[in-house]
Amino acid sequence: MQQVNVGIVGLGNVGSGTLSILAENAEQIAQKLGFRLAVKVVCSRSVRAKNLPPGMAGVKTTTDWREVVADPEVDIVAELVGGTRDAKALVEAAIAAKKSVVTANKELMALEGAEIWDRAINAGINLAMEASVAGGIPIHTVLREGISGDRVAALQGILNGTSNYILTEIERHGSDFGAVLMEAQRLGYAEADPSADIDGYDARSKLAILAALAFGERIVPADIYTEGIRRIEPIDFQYAHRLGHTIKLACGAWQTSAGLFLSVRPALIPQSAILASVQGAYNAIWVRGHYGQDTFYYGRGAGPQPTGVAVVSDLMRVAREIRSGSPERVSPFAHKRLGENRPLAVTLRKSAFYLRFRVHDRPGIIAALAGILAEKNISLDAVLQLPSDTKQSLPFVITLEPALEEDVRQAVEQMKTLDFLAEPPLAMPMEKGL
Ligand SMILES: NC(=O)c1ccc[n+]([C@@H]2O[C@H](COP(=O)([O-])OP(=O)(O)OC[C@H]3O[C@@H](n4cnc5c(N)ncnc54)[C@H](OP(=O)(O)O)[C@@H]3O)[C@@H](O)[C@H]2O)c1
Repeated sequence: MQQVNVGIVGLGNVGSGTLSILAENAEQIAQKLGFRLAVKVVCSRSVRAKNLPPGMAGVKTTTDWREVVADPEVDIVAELVGGTRDAKALVEAAIAAKKSVVTANKELMALEGAEIWDRAINAGINLAMEASVAGGIPIHTVLREGISGDRVAALQGILNGTSNYILTEIERHGSDFGAVLMEAQRLGYAEADPSADIDGYDARSKLAILAALAFGERIVPADIYTEGIRRIEPIDFQYAHRLGHTIKLACGAWQTSAGLFLSVRPALIPQSAILASVQGAYNAIWVRGHYGQDTFYYGRGAGPQPTGVAVVSDLMRVAREIRSGSPERVSPFAHKRLGENRPLAVTLRKSAFYLRFRVHDRPGIIAALAGILAEKNISLDAVLQLPSDTKQSLPFVITLEPALEEDVRQAVEQMKTLDFLAEPPLAMPMEKGL
């Protein structure tokens, strides 16, 4: 039984999870494949042979990823380093050396996936990237195989576990954003610099990859309107609940006859929608197909073992393809063939909106705000004010009938100049959900 050999670069969260699964589950993996998947060499800047899991005793270690790429025994290189600089050099060197590549790198694949994939096809090697989006949820396989016969009309997901954890904690305990963020950092759910998670950039990279896979269009992060969760307060959940909704960092892509709407932003989701029930650090993706209609995928979005499973499963798929001599010949970023789903500005989308104000209370406030909305032909749906014991920075909410986002934004800009506002209005779309 001829084995397929793997070199692993990066032994952090994902690399260590991958290695421990390859060690512990080696027999079952060999049974499923019909041959062994053997780790030949592992690499990280601070690798120590004594820290490798039991069963990996004879494995070579190095601090230089070039040795992994150059090792003639290595068939597949797993890039589990992250970032775009070293990871890109490593992936390119591996492809140039005709090694197949498995990566978990959303940032790199969102920015340069199309070019990297073209290079891999030209080199006749295999590339796999399941772990790059939603860790333990096999959504790449779903889009590329499971429902590839369908035409995706829309997808919506919760793609960042950290921000979902923070929003869930604010909702459950009424704690303020800063306190929950500090607790998330203490528990290791959020990085010391939390920006990528809470400002939506991590989710944006993931949506760029998913939308490219789902719609066959060249989508890059800059195409996606992105807004983070820093302004969400406990009071927003109280109003959202009153409206039968909750708040999620919603990642969405919708097809229209003119192109694609793409956004990562906090949004109100009906409490009856299946995405509303996704709590804590979990991820989920709902996909609507023209033919097969709705499917829903749920699981852990991160963590050494769930993400390790995705990497190991990719290694197994690539190993099978190497053994059967069938490298992937079609890029999942098939933008040149389709091209009909070009990204559109979200300002052209019509949605119902939630506007939350904090004002210094005085007569005539609602009339002034309603006047601005009327000028833009925006219909007001409801005005809500929960009991409050303050007249300073008094919160209340106006909901709007579906309106063009461009008009809503212009109205909000005009409202910002009103002297009774204690802070700029917070505007969030109210999504319909599944
Ligand atoms: N964490 C998750 O749950 C998760 C989920 C899905 C996808 N991902 C993706 O998986 C990738 C890895 O994430 P992670 O959380 O495992 O990162 P991590 O914990 O920071 O680990 C990174 C590893 O890469 C090594 N490394 C960095 N630069 C290197 C270089 N030039 N040469 C050799 N080794 C180098 C580090 O070595 P030293 O420690 O020795 O410096 C460390 O072992 C990222 O692309 C991330 O976006 C992560």
